[in-house]
Amino acid sequence: MKNTALLTGASSGIGKELAKIHASKGRDLILVARRLELLQQLQAEIIEKYKVQVEIIQKDLSVVGSSQELYDEVTAKGWQVDYLFNNAGFGGKGAFLDRDLEADVEMVRLNVMALLKLTHLFGKDMKARGKGKILQTASTAGFLPGPYQNTYFATKAFVVSHTQGLAHELKGTGVTVTALCPGPVATEFAQVAGFGGSKMFDGAASAYKTAFKAYNATEKGKTIFISELQYAFLIKILMPFMPTSITAAIIAKMQQS
Ligand SMILES: NC(=O)c1ccc[n+]([C@@H]2O[C@H](COP(=O)([O-])OP(=O)(O)OC[C@H]3O[C@@H](n4cnc5c(N)ncnc54)[C@H](OP(=O)(O)O)[C@@H]3O)[C@@H](O)[C@H]2O)c1
Repeated sequence: MKNTALLTGASSGIGKELAKIHASKGRDLILVARRLELLQQLQAEIIEKYKVQVEIIQKDLSVVGSSQELYDEVTAKGWQVDYLFNNAGFGGKGAFLDRDLEADVEMVRLNVMALLKLTHLFGKDMKARGKGKILQTASTAGFLPGPYQNTYFATKAFVVSHTQGLAHELKGTGVTVTALCPGPVATEFAQVAGFGGSKMFDGAASAYKTAFKAYNATEKGKTIFISELQYAFLIKILMPFMPTSITAAIIAKMQQS
């Protein structure tokens, strides 16, 4: 395999588009998600269109030990991961104390623990080779208080903070790490998180455009990449002047719309 990307959350949404963009450059892929049939369909589509090597691994990354299993499977096959796209993740609507705690714990295991573990395992190999690119799918949620989707926002705050620190540690190593921070994107995310029909996703960005911009930001080795201008303005220019209580009230209203 050559110029290979291991991509989690490849079966739909942003991940599926990232996979196609990567393949369009003649680069190979290892696609990871739980829904095998969707992975097989994407594999066939990409091989036919782009003639690259595409491998699939069905894995539930919220299960304890699954990231190590994934790393072991990949290395046992002798596949070198040059790009790591830590993209799998999900959210969940509702007041924290009213939510099923196990669902939130599962969210932390996927959005935080799997990302942390895979970055550590594959990042070490990249650093030893002096070359590699890591993309962490975070969110604009990572900069905000998140009432009524509290745990999800907190998982993305972890990803933003971890990426900022790691990017500094990796300076001069040949390895870069980028956090993609989109606002609402039209994918299966809203349905899975319990936001079906929510006004929050009116005018959501397309998965393709988000993935395209994220791929370019990764190639350039940007650390934090907010993929829509209006959210970059909100987060970088307006928010520093707003009291957190007001930001929280606005987010609470949006989550319930
Ligand atoms: N859509 C948005 O508004 C938005 C905004 C900001 C950030 N994001 C982030 O973007 C990333 C991609 O989400 P998306 O919007 O593209 O949503 P999506 O269409 O729901 O895609 C989520 C992907 O994650 C995979 N996944 C979910 N649970 C998994 C598990 N336990 N193990 C392995 N894979 C799992 C899903 O595949 P299977 O179900 O087949 O496992 C799917 O491929 C997420 O990290 C999300 O938090 C989304």
